[in-house]
Amino acid sequence: MVIFLIGFMGCGKTSIGRKVATQAGFRFMDMDREIEERCGMNVAGIFERHGEPYFRRCERELLESLAGQDGDLVVSTGGGVPCHGDNMDVMNSTGRTVYLKMSPPTLVKRLEHGRDKRPKIQGMDDGALLEYIRRTLPGREEYYNKAHFVIDCDGAADDYICRHIAGYLESN
Ligand code: S3P
Repeated sequence: MVIFLIGFMGCGKTSIGRKVATQAGFRFMDMDREIEERCGMNVAGIFERHGEPYFRRCERELLESLAGQDGDLVVSTGGGVPCHGDNMDVMNSTGRTVYLKMSPPTLVKRLEHGRDKRPKIQGMDDGALLEYIRRTLPGREEYYNKAHFVIDCDGAADDYICRHIAGYLESN
């Protein structure tokens, strides 16, 4: 079984994904890290050198390669993965999708560090970032909300979120 964690930058896909994988005895993959390894440069470098469309093609190829894999795996997707082409449908038919939902002010706080490695929000101050999230999140949620399972993560501890995911997997 493959579990895809989806959601906006900063919502905790990677840290929650690692924990869920450890607790369930699943393998773990972070899509950004996997693409960085395959390309031999970081995400910011890929955007700068090859452009965003190339990065989106890398995401798509990686997703397609996961459709055929055996075994139990937790995948932390990049925030833009569900919102390009029919990636959301591919994930929904490959495995289980879980949307880690968070409000714009909470995302801004959580993105206090790590803006520079994310080309979409590089160099933004808090005000610009809040405005960017408020502007883009509604469009992205049209895709995120197609997830099999949505967890409201605002103010929630990691353990609570992991328990919810484990409970969902047991009953599905
Ligand atoms: C992006 C999110 C990033 C990364 C890239 C683009 C996006 O991943 O894939 O910077 O478009 O939302 P995280 O959500 O892990 O930060």
